[in-house]
Amino acid sequence: MASQNDRPIGVFDSGFGGLTVARALIDLLPAEQVIYVGDSARYPYGPRPADEVREFSVEIAEHLVKVEGVKIVVVACNTASAFALDDLRERFDVPILGVIEPGLRSAARATRNGAIGVIGTVGTIASGAYQSQARLMEIESRVYCCACPGFVEFVERGEFMSDQVHVLAERLLEPLIGVGVDTLLLGCTHYPFLARTIADVMGRGVLLISSAEETAFDVREMLMRTAMTRTDTSAPAHRFLSSGDLGWFVEMGSQLLGPELDHAERVSFGH
Ligand code: DGL
Repeated sequence: MASQNDRPIGVFDSGFGGLTVARALIDLLPAEQVIYVGDSARYPYGPRPADEVREFSVEIAEHLVKVEGVKIVVVACNTASAFALDDLRERFDVPILGVIEPGLRSAARATRNGAIGVIGTVGTIASGAYQSQARLMEIESRVYCCACPGFVEFVERGEFMSDQVHVLAERLLEPLIGVGVDTLLLGCTHYPFLARTIADVMGRGVLLISSAEETAFDVREMLMRTAMTRTDTSAPAHRFLSSGDLGWFVEMGSQLLGPELDHAERVSFGH
């Protein structure tokens, strides 16, 4: 049995998106072991009802905490953070960190004209989670939210820069260009993979912000504050679990995360 400190950091998302956060964690905390769950069999979460996203999130967190024995759970999915964070915090004893607060903090720090755009799934945007969090954090900037249905499907297919995704981005991002945001928060962990297309459409004056790095800093702070950093000095063996097609998960995931994702393990939820 690993000592309390040497337990892994659990990270989950509906599919590949949370790998942006896993990458930032592996880079910032090279001594820590990461165990990642991509619920690829049930993606996308964005169009699903809140209750269902909550139920899926609880199942995954339960697996991470009870079966894998993680010391912290990072909800590397905005949709799950929007709908399930409070519930997860009530149910589990380990710290549960989401991506909404860190992302907003970065965006608020970066904006120069006080106009921040936030893009996310239909679920995240309709939940109003970004506006409520901005009020809670007393962010003075104006926050304009805009749903981008379809983006996640392009990422899961590995299609980042096609004409089709460009045309969709032009149509979906037009309102944010219209209100003159100078900072655009990618409020879905899948979107950093579309950063070139999104940046091209928004124009060079707009800064894109991903929540991945700031979330990794929050995890580091939490581990230090609770004296839970890893003490084992051997190189950590990261693990990647998927509920979907394992071959595709490794093929695409290794391109997105890098060489650490050289094989994946099956995990099943529900039914
Ligand atoms: N990457 C996720 C998010 O940040 C979920 C996307 C989806 O499954 O719709 O919202």
